[in-house]
Amino acid sequence: MRTLLLLHGPNLSQLGSRDPAQYGPDSLEEVVGTARQEAAANNAHLEHLQTEHEGVLLERLHAARADGTDAILINAGAWTHTSYALRDALELLQCPKVEVHLSNIHAREAFRATSVLAPVCHGSIVGFGIDGYALAVRAACALLDRRG
Ligand code: DQA
Repeated sequence: MRTLLLLHGPNLSQLGSRDPAQYGPDSLEEVVGTARQEAAANNAHLEHLQTEHEGVLLERLHAARADGTDAILINAGAWTHTSYALRDALELLQCPKVEVHLSNIHAREAFRATSVLAPVCHGSIVGFGIDGYALAVRAACALLDRRG
């Protein structure tokens, strides 16, 4: 069975009560549940980690190089726009990598329009709210199918 690793960065623990107009009414647990359900429908197991600490995410990405992780899904929150360290860690991974954002980062403040992670991911899914997580799981599984 395939293992998908879903990673969440800072402030995403606050989903549900954090700016629902941008991020929707669902809690992080519900968002992860949507991803898990789609993973199960695609015969995959989904592991999840959310952290407010950048180093924790970096260490998890390093471990993913050798622990059997088949694909990465990542919503790095504000680190999306600032973290060259996360960018470099993602670049080291050869597996499918899908960036996901609840909001449309291109339709908001100028600083959100740039993702320093996008160039080292296979693709990005932005602006579809919680549904974007099911789409991201499907995109990762489709990439894995194509690899055989
Ligand atoms: C976000 C967009 C980021 O700009 C923001 O800092 C977040 C959430 C999103 O899912 O839309 O924390 O990644």
